[in-house]
Amino acid sequence: MKYLPLMHDFSGCRCLVVGGGKVALRRAQRVMDAGGTVDVIAIDPLPEICGLVEQCAGKVESRAYVTDDIDRGYHLVVAATDVKAVNRQVARDCNRRSVLVNVVDDSSLCDVVFPIVIDRDPAQIAISSGSASPQFSRLLRDRINTFVPHGYGRLAKLFGKYRRRVNRKIPVIRDRRIFWNKVVHGYIAEGALSGNYDQAESQLQSAISDPEHFRAKGEVYLVGAGPGDPDLLTMRAFRLLQQAETILYDRLVSREILDRLEAGKELVYVGKQRANHVLPQNDINELLVRHALRGRRVARLKGGDPFIFGRGGEEIETLAENGVPFQVIPGISAANGCASYSGIPLTHRDHAQSVRFVTGQLQNGTVNLDWKNLVAPGQTLVFYMGLRGLPIICEKLIEHGCDQDTPAAVIEKGTTLDQKTHVSTLKQLPGLVEKSGVQAPTLTIVGSVVTLHASLQWFHPPQ
Ligand SMILES: C[S@@+](CC[C@H](N)C(=O)[O-])C[C@H]1O[C@@H](n2cnc3c(N)ncnc32)[C@H](O)[C@@H]1O
Repeated sequence: MKYLPLMHDFSGCRCLVVGGGKVALRRAQRVMDAGGTVDVIAIDPLPEICGLVEQCAGKVESRAYVTDDIDRGYHLVVAATDVKAVNRQVARDCNRRSVLVNVVDDSSLCDVVFPIVIDRDPAQIAISSGSASPQFSRLLRDRINTFVPHGYGRLAKLFGKYRRRVNRKIPVIRDRRIFWNKVVHGYIAEGALSGNYDQAESQLQSAISDPEHFRAKGEVYLVGAGPGDPDLLTMRAFRLLQQAETILYDRLVSREILDRLEAGKELVYVGKQRANHVLPQNDINELLVRHALRGRRVARLKGGDPFIFGRGGEEIETLAENGVPFQVIPGISAANGCASYSGIPLTHRDHAQSVRFVTGQLQNGTVNLDWKNLVAPGQTLVFYMGLRGLPIICEKLIEHGCDQDTPAAVIEKGTTLDQKTHVSTLKQLPGLVEKSGVQAPTLTIVGSVVTLHASLQWFHPPQ
């Protein structure tokens, strides 16, 4: 390791910047952000750098650098001119006097480097590639940025505010670590991250006043898994799945998503296949409560979006009744996923101004819907759970005024590598679906937007 990573309290410290261009300006800004004072020596400094330095009561001198300039008690010198010989001289002068120096664009002359910073004030993440490649540091920054939510700063403030109180209440370091671990991986942190800062703070206060009770308290994340493609999981869904200890999932959750979960989690399959629920809904609701009351972090992973034909509402009602903390993470619903991956926009200026999501589930051998109300011009209809009832759906729509040549499509296993899109008309779709041996899950889209598939399809999984 070439560098010693340190965080320097720079408030009140003095820095000399030699050079007055854009890079010098950025360096000066960084020093001032950390509370330092900056003086600048440059032959032709930018007006912006002059304005900036004025703000920290520093000095700008428009002239060439001379060796004596660094003998004024600086903590740090930055050489940022575009003349290499001058930068080298500044570095040599600093080395002789043991003053820390940073030379722009020449790491071999630097004692210290300015890392790339991810700012989650008061928390900061500093990244350096050890001078190997600034490009690599930027890539790393983008990666880390993806996984460190913006609200982490808020969380850090909360930690800071209650740190002493927790130290007093929980004197044993190991217990304290367990306590904070549960805070950061649980509903308190999640509340703060999602903007419920006040609630999170009062929950933290209760946790501090009764740490034993807090320790035994579990929670549930109701997570939408999307329609199949694992890349369609939201970042929050992915993060919460990583921190869950027990995951209850059903049939619509794709194998690829389960494969992405780390080892060591308790995975519980709870169904459900049409009319063949491994567990009845009430049992699932109660199971969630039972796991949470054991103090577990439980994810209930459901296909698509939990609040669209997902019975997610019933599950969280039971949690609320039992005082179990929960949060709901939306997922991409089958309608959105299938429409996008089959190149059928659900609305389009020339075709449809509204869209309706409808259940096509068979009940007692029929599909009971307000058909008259469903048939309207300029509208797209999307039927979930409509494979078995497809002949009835098409027949009823025609019977209630839809043209039998209205374009209609069935999307089979949408967004997965097995996706197939079957395009036809209301009259002919059931026959086509039967002949093609289509398998669930499927989504049916009815309306003139379906014609756009011919020109807009872009997803071509290997057949
Ligand atoms: C019980 S509903 C759940 C819907 C889910 N909550 C959502 O938002 O997508 C199940 C129905 O969703 C549709 N579905 C789910 N995933 C699908 C996929 N990958 N391709 C086509 N349809 C899908 C099917 O109509 C299936 O019968």
